[in-house]
Amino acid sequence: DWNMPDYISEAVEKIRAQVGTDEVILGLSGGVDSSVAAALIHRAIGDQLTCVFVDHGLLRLNEGQMVMDMFAKNLGVKVIRVDATEQFMGHLAGVTDPEQKRKIIGREFVEVFQAESAKLPSAKWLAQGTIYPDVIESAGKGKKGQTIKSHHNVGGLPETMKLALLEPLRELFKDEVRKLGVALGLPHEMVYRHPFPGPGLGVRILGEVKHEYAELLRRADAIFIEELRNTPYEAVVVPGFDQDSVPRNWYEATSQAFAVFLPVKSVGVMGDGRTYDYVVALRAVQTQDFMTAHWAHLPHELLGKVSNRIINEVRGLNRVVYDISGKPPATIEWE
Ligand code: XMP
Repeated sequence: DWNMPDYISEAVEKIRAQVGTDEVILGLSGGVDSSVAAALIHRAIGDQLTCVFVDHGLLRLNEGQMVMDMFAKNLGVKVIRVDATEQFMGHLAGVTDPEQKRKIIGREFVEVFQAESAKLPSAKWLAQGTIYPDVIESAGKGKKGQTIKSHHNVGGLPETMKLALLEPLRELFKDEVRKLGVALGLPHEMVYRHPFPGPGLGVRILGEVKHEYAELLRRADAIFIEELRNTPYEAVVVPGFDQDSVPRNWYEATSQAFAVFLPVKSVGVMGDGRTYDYVVALRAVQTQDFMTAHWAHLPHELLGKVSNRIINEVRGLNRVVYDISGKPPATIEWE
């Protein structure tokens, strides 16, 4: 059994004993693991922690601002935000191969992070939100697992940095990390978010990544997520069942949901005119482990509302399709 206040004070003591008066750097992605690690380490050592938040321009709508508000404004954490959009877009121009895109994003990410870290030469520690399943995964040889590690969790720690690793979540499972995050004062909504891949919208814009595509996708995706959150889910409540895990809405009832930008134009009508605009696909899946997944049977009314809203509100998109492929054979992401 898990006593949260005791756990937090022990973890805090352990971090203090480990780092002493040293400075610590942490790469904040806005994801659950790095966020909870940041909140915990900040609780332990306050301003000895500096977070570096690299905005690659492939984040969701208002995501960068939300990360800054939550950490810098609300929790008083030192966060350096680096807007590297132009650098990433520049290197991605003309590149269409999915693995090539991942490699570029991963490489630039490390580069930007390294350049920022070099501005903090007194730092002795690199903190990471590694959790127990990551430890297991990198011990095994999951094909995708290694690809994910290599860029996402700054796993490719640059040799030259000579920093010691601080990984306070190494022994925790995801659900424990979430509970810890809430106990540390992070918003429930943030801590229970769906996973978001390291390369971000880079793998949800098929083929070449462009500013224009990212803008359209961000807006469509935000509408989809908003409607999922706002649509109640009629759960069968089993007495004695952990109430926290009963989904209240369709966002909570799905494991991952997002929009995908297809660089394909099709014909539509709008008022008296004809349109010739892009398509977005909606993807929503239910899964335990993300190795296999079912497409979510979202209510038709919900899908209809999302489609209407996207087409009416996002000029440049005139068609919405729903992905009804399971994994396998399809993957969750489209690239
Ligand atoms: P797939 O598309 O392989 O995705 O069914 C399974 C899970 O992994 C996530 N994913 C990634 N996460 N970097 C990441 O950090 C990646 O390159 C990447 N590719 C897929 C995906 O979002 C899903 O949760």
